Amino acid sequence: MMKIAIASDHGGVDLKEIISNFLKNKNFEVVDLGTNDTTSVDYPIFADKLADNILKKESDLGILVCGTGVGISIRANRYKGIRAALLYDDEVAVMAKKHNNANVIVFGGRTMNSNDVLKRIDIFLNTEFEGGRHQKRIDLLDM
Ligand code: RB5
Repeated sequence: MMKIAIASDHGGVDLKEIISNFLKNKNFEVVDLGTNDTTSVDYPIFADKLADNILKKESDLGILVCGTGVGISIRANRYKGIRAALLYDDEVAVMAKKHNNANVIVFGGRTMNSNDVLKRIDIFLNTEFEGGRHQKRIDLLDM
């Protein structure tokens, strides 16, 4: 069974709970790296925890949530080997897997509707990476 790590700041904690319950209901193993309440915290810290988990191959996929998804994406993408994609619509959810083989998907707790987010997670999980010329481009990302 696929293992999915998830983390957020206070701006994403409510959506993180919704996503986490959704995935557990589908029998995914979910590793929750916090935060756990709405006390104000610094999103880079939670991006760091998640990036570390993914780079150590402790989980197969990471999910990050902050208010907009922007700050936490910026931090996660500073790590070589992390490909964090902000899934702001359904087509992007397809392409982020097909072409970018994202290993972290990101959402905005204050900017996205939770039903849209859950749909995009399903789309992403049900799409295959195309490899080929896209693998070459992914390799170039980390040079
Ligand atoms: C926190 O107030 C907010 O700045 C954060 O959740 C996120 O939206 C940053 O990009």
